[in-house]
Amino acid sequence: MCGIFAYKGHQTEAAKLVFDGLKKLEYRGYDSWGVAWKKDQNIQVHKQVGKISEASDEPLLDQGSSIAMSHSRWATHGGVTQENAHPHVSSDGKVTIIHNGIIENYQELKSELGPHNFTSDTDTEVIAELISKHCKEMDFESAVKKSTEELEGRYAFIVMHQDDDKLIAARRGSPLILGVGDGEFFLASDIPAFLQYTQQVNYLDDDQLVVIDTEARFYDLLSDSEIEKRTITIDWTEEEAQKGDYDHFMLKEIMDQKDTVMRAINQNEEEIVKIAEYIKNSSGVFLSGCGTAGKVCMAGKYFFSVISEKHVSFAPSSEFPIYHHFLTPESLLIVISQSGETADVLEAMNVAKEKGAKVLSLVNVQGSSIARQSDFSLLINAGPEKAVASTKAATSQLSLLLLIAYAVAGKLDEGKKLLIETAAMINDMLNPRYLEFIKEVADEIDHAENAYIIGKAANYPMALEAAIKIQEVSYIHAEGFAAGELKHGPIALITEGTPCISLIAEDEVKQDIINNTIELKSRGAHIIGVSAFRHESYDHWIRVPDAGVASPIVNLIPIQLLAYYLSTHRGLNPDMPRNLAKSVTVK
Ligand code: M6R
Repeated sequence: MCGIFAYKGHQTEAAKLVFDGLKKLEYRGYDSWGVAWKKDQNIQVHKQVGKISEASDEPLLDQGSSIAMSHSRWATHGGVTQENAHPHVSSDGKVTIIHNGIIENYQELKSELGPHNFTSDTDTEVIAELISKHCKEMDFESAVKKSTEELEGRYAFIVMHQDDDKLIAARRGSPLILGVGDGEFFLASDIPAFLQYTQQVNYLDDDQLVVIDTEARFYDLLSDSEIEKRTITIDWTEEEAQKGDYDHFMLKEIMDQKDTVMRAINQNEEEIVKIAEYIKNSSGVFLSGCGTAGKVCMAGKYFFSVISEKHVSFAPSSEFPIYHHFLTPESLLIVISQSGETADVLEAMNVAKEKGAKVLSLVNVQGSSIARQSDFSLLINAGPEKAVASTKAATSQLSLLLLIAYAVAGKLDEGKKLLIETAAMINDMLNPRYLEFIKEVADEIDHAENAYIIGKAANYPMALEAAIKIQEVSYIHAEGFAAGELKHGPIALITEGTPCISLIAEDEVKQDIINNTIELKSRGAHIIGVSAFRHESYDHWIRVPDAGVASPIVNLIPIQLLAYYLSTHRGLNPDMPRNLAKSVTVK
């Protein structure tokens, strides 16, 4: 959840370099930030509360350093204070560390370390102290390795020592990637931090450690042996990871959907057919993901049911382990994750693997933990998604799932044709007039305290997803419901003028949801209808093309725009919703 970025190499302004790179990871956490750099065997630290994007680089200029580390924090242990911001330094001033994750036994370690002048409430400071303690009996590298044996929980940390020029990093459960340049190394929790310098990367796996000196050496911590790592070339570009002329990444990523659906379905057909066969022959297929990806999974359940008549179960990844009784070696778990690093998803995968089940993942980040730990993995190819609110990843995930459902039905070509048409529809939708119209609708409801969204069939999960989008970026209390459930309770919430959004497709349940919309209207709701047709119950009609069974994909487009404009109209920054981080690597 926090962002970490470190550098060691020939460049001489490392403090400024890591500060600039860290800004590109701010979506991972934005409570506070800090930088440490080493010069003439002296480590200096600068840290402060607030967003790095709003901070000046003044204290980091002209430091003449070639080794530095930086951290942007998403608070877990300890409040948002300068003391709790990373980097943390051991009490003897020798060991400086940045960390992403949670050390579960930090209280025990703290007591074992005895009385110390701990200056923060964090679990991280304890790691620095532990390493420093071991350094009194052994060299720095051995001390770091020994310390990892005593840590329980999840971590990706990077550490440096005042009297040793190595940079050492270790991983268990939180992402850590080494970027390899020409005579220089970058360590980060996400690729965009160093994409401008190199596309060559090594992913660290759990219980691995890397020592960076003039070259990088990798170790397996469990066997304490040196290992070889495969270097991967990333196909993202620095330009894709920038927001260009857009005010926010969220808007840029919504607009990227002009071509991301096409990129999602541009898959190796033989592989899709092979995966479809596997799904067909599995007994017990489960879909799982978190947040937006979870809502996509719910829609996937519907796709498999109506297109391929295949029963698929769904559980959010945080709930999935409860259903372990139903997993067998014949089961297949399909997980969906933009980042490929979500802790709850990794946990669900572990539970499935323990039962001998196979795992198929749909991810956006090449080489991510989820991709590497799966039996089969497909990339959704949406390019970097940096806004906390997931937009283009969601429509790409939906598209690829739909394509797979068609392949399971033996109708891959039909699915491809539908999705190509859908991609063209989205391209047409995202024009300046459409954006202007959605802005006007947002104007009408941006004062609202509550908003409700209804959908049916595959648009029911989209109603849930619409609620997430509106909640996380505008802070309006939004809830999604299955349209038919209104009369069983939620309709009591409707008062005069309550904004209600109906997501309607041209399908067999159309009339039912129109009836539900009329029921809302009769109770005074302000109706925003998202559909291919106009209806008299609507106060606003947001027109979407008729995309048939792909309607969840096109229906999400105006919803994402509406959430975006609700956020900006309320003076908020949609890229950095409060309390949230882009990639949730804690359980
Ligand atoms: O990286 P993932 O797709 O695994 O992330 C899952 C959720 O954390 C994510 O979709 C979250 O709900 C977004 N903020 C929603 O916009």
